[in-house]
Amino acid sequence: MRFNSYAAKVLVKRVLLIIGGGIAAYKCLDLIRRLRERDLAVRVVLTKAAQEFVTPLSVSALTNDRVFTDLFDLDDEREIGHIRLSREADLIVVAPATADLLARMANGIANDLATAVILAADKPVLAAPAMNPRMWLNPATQRNVARLAGDGIHFIGPNEGEMAERGEAGPGRMAEVPELVSAIEKLLSSKLSAGRLPLSGRHVLVTSGPTHEPIDPVRYIANRSSGKQGHAIAAAAAKLGARVTLIAGPVALADPVGVTVHHIETAEEMLEAVKEALPADIAILAAAVADWRIDAPAAGKIKKGAKASPPSLALTENPDILKTIAARNAHRPALVIGFAAETESVVEQATAKRRAKGADWIVANDVSPAAGVFGGDRNTVHLITGGGAETWPQMTKAEVAERLVMRAAEHLAKTQISV
Ligand code: C5P
Repeated sequence: MRFNSYAAKVLVKRVLLIIGGGIAAYKCLDLIRRLRERDLAVRVVLTKAAQEFVTPLSVSALTNDRVFTDLFDLDDEREIGHIRLSREADLIVVAPATADLLARMANGIANDLATAVILAADKPVLAAPAMNPRMWLNPATQRNVARLAGDGIHFIGPNEGEMAERGEAGPGRMAEVPELVSAIEKLLSSKLSAGRLPLSGRHVLVTSGPTHEPIDPVRYIANRSSGKQGHAIAAAAAKLGARVTLIAGPVALADPVGVTVHHIETAEEMLEAVKEALPADIAILAAAVADWRIDAPAAGKIKKGAKASPPSLALTENPDILKTIAARNAHRPALVIGFAAETESVVEQATAKRRAKGADWIVANDVSPAAGVFGGDRNTVHLITGGGAETWPQMTKAEVAERLVMRAAEHLAKTQISV
């Protein structure tokens, strides 16, 4: 399907892929094939630096369309300007989004075709950063990413792992092609991708997943939280236009699209990350934080001695993140929402917990094994507010998330509080 054919204009979703100059550019060739397999039309802009990694000829063979480069021939009657390029797309994907591209995007610089197209865009933009870990972690890059996320740019990745440079590892690998494809499909299917959304301009902070509390360098205490509910909440808030920071414990889930994710392991790390992410308009603390940690984790692996009796573990209480955040005067989010996972007297215990923790709302659910909530995709919850308890019908965790963030958005709109 050619990008500019009649069918493409009317029926087919169109992706404008801006390929930046990084080693990960080679993944874009496979990305184009996977998108075309899904009947998406793909048009490509190559930056000057990208042409050092992939050639216009190979890209053009895959898109079955002309490839647009920085080298414009303004006399060419087939010329298509940057305004048309962005207008004719449903979604703009920047991959790999290099540190330099992100910096220019964050500052509204339009000194080549790629950045001019992005600046002129009235469509959602998805950026897949890829760079050396030190460049990614540099405060300048983090500042640019935060600013772009605030402007509504969606992000996927970067992932952690080995870099192309020998001996380099850390956050900076471009998201893999299947992750990119699923993020692109989600954004294309989102009806809420343009215009002002209920949570536009708001910052939503979410915690999700379990925490791991080390016993020694190889063992830890954990719990059965999958993170599915918390991650779904982060994704739903992003879909409603919020800038979302997700503090995630160890989970087997992909980072939600368009969300800034900080990965932590322990409760203490989670508290630090939460404090650093403030201020926020809404805090939704869905993580199953371990109540206790090992008092003094062993520096080396505890050995199974032939004669020695099994070790006993002395525990100490972890900080209560919800209580700490709800009690703060400085930077207390306007709406603090906690979760209560109970196995009996769910509503009664959650109502008491709302008061004890100082939360505005508590989302309570029955996690007795029969309910199948841990790791499952469905949830039956009760929303406890100052006005009492409401029981929601059983629905998927994604639906619970959508309903909860919509309620939170409405609540904020009524109280008109913004950070
Ligand atoms: O006390 P309980 O663990 O049942 O409370 C659950 C709520 O409190 C959840 O929102 C959870 O994220 C939060 N919590 C916390 N820090 C803890 C324990 C729980 O933020 N140490």
